[in-house]
Amino acid sequence: MTMTKTKEKLAIHGGAPVRTLPFTTWPQHDEAEARAVAEVARSGKWWRCAYGTTEFGQRDANNIVGRSRAEVFEDLFAQAQGAKYALGVTSGSAALEVALRAAGIQPGDEVITTPYTFIATTTCIMNNMAVPVYTDIDPATYNMDAGQIELRITERTRAILPVHFSGNLCDMETIGAIARKHHLRVIEDAAHAHGVEYEGRQYAGTFGDFGCFSFQESKNLPTGEGGMIITNNRENIERVYSLHHFGRKEGEVWYKHFHQGWNYRMNEFTAAIGIVQLGRLFEQNARRMENYAYLVNKLAKLPGITPSASHPGLTKHSHHLAMLRYDAREVGGLHRNEFVKALAAEGIPALTGYTFPNYANPFMTSEETRARFRAAGISLPDYAAYAERCPHCEHACHEESIWLEHRLLLGTREDMDDIAEGFAKVIGAFTA
Ligand SMILES: Cc1ncc(COP(=O)(O)O)c(C=O)c1O
Repeated sequence: MTMTKTKEKLAIHGGAPVRTLPFTTWPQHDEAEARAVAEVARSGKWWRCAYGTTEFGQRDANNIVGRSRAEVFEDLFAQAQGAKYALGVTSGSAALEVALRAAGIQPGDEVITTPYTFIATTTCIMNNMAVPVYTDIDPATYNMDAGQIELRITERTRAILPVHFSGNLCDMETIGAIARKHHLRVIEDAAHAHGVEYEGRQYAGTFGDFGCFSFQESKNLPTGEGGMIITNNRENIERVYSLHHFGRKEGEVWYKHFHQGWNYRMNEFTAAIGIVQLGRLFEQNARRMENYAYLVNKLAKLPGITPSASHPGLTKHSHHLAMLRYDAREVGGLHRNEFVKALAAEGIPALTGYTFPNYANPFMTSEETRARFRAAGISLPDYAAYAERCPHCEHACHEESIWLEHRLLLGTREDMDDIAEGFAKVIGAFTA
């Protein structure tokens, strides 16, 4: 028997696809979301200020009667993430931008972060006229390589901005120790890390000064758009609250503005959906973990596929994305992009992820951007030179990474079998 005899014709070459049925869709919702939104609509109270002032630290999450949905969502989310305080905002990007400002980041300050992330992680720094400085990623985890942080510290460094990519916790013990040693602030980008738990005792977003979450539609806790900032520090919550509310202070005169703030307030409709979705989060994450373990056990046996490594201390993962590392050398030289196209033809949706690292986006080196910083007396690094400094991130973007969306992990065992079969079929066609 030769292998060629057993090879099935790929769907991309006209063969029958492994799967024709759709996978689980996202977001998941029912009448509860519709009712929650209708209740807000009927109440005629569509913004939090319709309920009067906010009292930090004196709120009872179980008492929801007559209270702003935004406040209630904040209390429930803080409780779920094991934080003292939470503040709802308009997006994950807004959360990051406001948290950096509240952390005292000034124009020209340097913030060390990862290049393997959504662009908001970079622009939240630059919108504060601060300068992003990148470590490479750890190729095993795709998170920032904490071992490189100290190499990037200069006298202008003020903060570290780790991203818990795909819900995989960064090495927060090393990052925390470096931050303490060099007196740096830590702002966690936890846009993918709702309900992510470390050693059964601490949740993502509570290791640094601020944790920033996104509720954009694709996220594990979706509200369409929206975001949340969490912190354990009273002064921190008062600062972000003021900055997100035109610099106002609670208990002060309405038209008196103490900081150069802006309007990043979460509206009541968003919060109403968020409350319902939060009630679904932990059960969904548990299902994702179960299906992920089953699926990667199968995928890891195939040549050319290595699941990216999770932090060993993780007790609850969100698997916002199932992250796989692809090695074309083991699949007859088939490029990752062609592999993913062949998978799609088999009815298995996979993504190649970011086209390039954050620093390689056109605006990072454009004259428009550089001129804006120059006018403020700030010179940006030569971001084109980062390609050599970050070979692992380059490799991930151009050759290696494959993402499976978390919605796929909410399906059945049979769905996981189909995904694994699709991978096996395409790999089988290119291996001896
Ligand atoms: C890692 C990361 N950070 C920040 C954001 C920004 O969140 P938002 O889209 O809610 O502004 C996103 C999401 O899109 C993200 O993936």
